[in-house]
Amino acid sequence: MERTLLIIKPDATGRNLVGHIINRLEKARFTLVDMKLTRLTIDEARKFYAVHEGKPFLDSLTEYMSSGTVIPMVLEKENAIADLRKLIGATNPEQAECGTLRNEIGVDVQHNSVHASDSQESADVEIPFFFG
Ligand code: RTP
Ligand code: MG
Repeated sequence: MERTLLIIKPDATGRNLVGHIINRLEKARFTLVDMKLTRLTIDEARKFYAVHEGKPFLDSLTEYMSSGTVIPMVLEKENAIADLRKLIGATNPEQAECGTLRNEIGVDVQHNSVHASDSQESADVEIPFFFG
């Protein structure tokens, strides 16, 4: 069994898509291990996305991620990390495959509804960030 972190981003909580997303995750046989409803400060968002330090979209990203409610959750499944990245689809919803969450509900490359850990190394840092 493997664990990964998913965050429902402010564009999705703001459009009342929380239940829909959790339903999709459960249908894909992810087990919900932990979850909370919170709001990040800009500094917390910057710390969470520290890997993107220096990128042109970082300021806009951290502002967006602290603009509303976020719902981080720990999900468990065999091959959870890769399977969840597959389920959410490409960063840009326009390029995300049909049937993926971002293709279905993402708005644009920034407002793409969900975050998911991209590797074991990321999951090992991102899970304790919210559930220490
Ligand atoms: P995430 O970390 O949120 O799961 O997304 P990701 O791995 O698919 O994409 P990543 O490259 O890690 O980018 C993190 C988030 O930054 C925003 N972004 N904006 N304006 C842009 O070109 C741009 N590129 C990325 C998105 O919200 C993306 O999910
Ligand atoms: Mg990423």
